[in-house]
Amino acid sequence: MPRIPLVDLQAQYQSIKPEIDAAVARVLASGHFILGPEVEALEREVAAYCGTRHAVGVASGTDALVLSLRACGIGPGAEVITTAFSFFATAEAILLAGAAPVFVDIEPATCNLDADQLADAVTSRTKAILPVHLYGHPCAMDRVMDVAQARRLRVIEDCAQAIGATCGGQRVGAFGDAGCLSFYPTKNLGGYGDGGMVVTNDPKLAEHIRLLRAHGSAQRYHHAALGVNSRLDELQAAVLRVKLRHLDRWTEARRRNAEAYRAAFARHSAAGLEGPVERPGCQAVYHLYTIRSPKRDRIHDTLDSESIETQVAYPGTLPSQPALAAIGGRHAPVPRAEEAARQVLSLPVYPELTLDVIDRIAAATARAAR
Ligand SMILES: Cc1ncc(COP(=O)(O)O)c(C=O)c1O
Repeated sequence: MPRIPLVDLQAQYQSIKPEIDAAVARVLASGHFILGPEVEALEREVAAYCGTRHAVGVASGTDALVLSLRACGIGPGAEVITTAFSFFATAEAILLAGAAPVFVDIEPATCNLDADQLADAVTSRTKAILPVHLYGHPCAMDRVMDVAQARRLRVIEDCAQAIGATCGGQRVGAFGDAGCLSFYPTKNLGGYGDGGMVVTNDPKLAEHIRLLRAHGSAQRYHHAALGVNSRLDELQAAVLRVKLRHLDRWTEARRRNAEAYRAAFARHSAAGLEGPVERPGCQAVYHLYTIRSPKRDRIHDTLDSESIETQVAYPGTLPSQPALAAIGGRHAPVPRAEEAARQVLSLPVYPELTLDVIDRIAAATARAAR
C-alpha cells in the first residue's frame, strides 16, 4: 500500500501548478528578487487576512519573533513568560533577543499555555507574554490580554502554526502587540523555502521591524540601528500570494478532516485516546491533528508498520532541552507539559487527504490504542 505522508506538498503543488508556475515566471522575468512589489503586495494581503493594519515580511518565523521582541524593547534583563511546550524556536527567540524565558505549564485540552498560571509567573522583570497557538489551536487570548493589561506587559503571539485561527471571530495575531507567522514549507501557508511575517496594528512597531530586518537601514548606507539581514524574497512572496488565495479552502478541508477523525474514532470505539478539543468560541486551523494516549509509542509503531507517517511534536518540554538547561532560568514545575511530551502523536490532516484514508488511519490508531 502506498505510504501515507504526514504532509503532501507535491499533491498541493499539482493542484495549483499553473498559478504557481505563472507567479514564479513573473518574478524571474522581473529581475527583482528581494523586498520588491510581490513582498509589498503580500504584506498588504496578509495584514488584511489577519485583520491588522500592518505586516512586515522577514526571513523566517524565528526572525519574526526575535525582531518583534527587539522592536518591543525586550532585551537583556527582561523576562518573557511563555509556554513550556512548543517548538524550540519559541524559547530560542527570547534568548536571541537577550531576554530570559520563564516557562508556565499547559492546559491539557489544547496543550497551550495555562492562562491561570500567568499571574503567578509575573515579576518586576517581566516585560512580555509570548503565547503560542500550538497545533493551530488558539490560546485563551482574552485571559492572556487581561493579565497583560493589568501588569502592563507586551504580548507577542507565536502564530507560526495558526494562521487564520479565530477566537470570538478575531484572527490570531491581531490580539497582541505583534503576531508572528512562519511560512516554512509544511506550515498551513507555506512557501518553497523559509519565510516569515509580523502582523501588527502598531505603526511604530511595524516601522521599527522594517528597519531591523534590513541592517537597521531605511536609507542606503545610513544605519540608524543595529539590525540583521532578514528580508523576505520575491519568489517566496509570489508563491505565498497564490497560496493565500487558497488558504481558507485548505483550512476548511483541515477542519473537515478533523471532524472526520472525531466521527471515525467514535465509530471504531477508540478507548484511551483523547482527540483535540476546541476552545468554545474559537476555531482551530489544525496545522496538526494531535491525539493523546498513554500508548503513544505503540500507536506510532503500529501506524509506521502500516505505512502511515506520524510525528511526535514534541518529545520533550522546552525547559528540558539541553541548550536551555545549560542557561538555567526560572520556572515552576511543568508536569502537564511533561505528560504531553510522553503522550502526543500527530496524525496526517493535510487538506488533500481523502475521507477513506482518514478512516483507515483512525481504525489502525484505535486498534493500537486498545
Ligand atoms: C511554534 C513555532 N514557533 C516558531 C517557529 C519558527 O518558524 P521558522 O521555522 O519559520 O523559523 C515554528 C516553526 O517551525 C513553530 O512551529
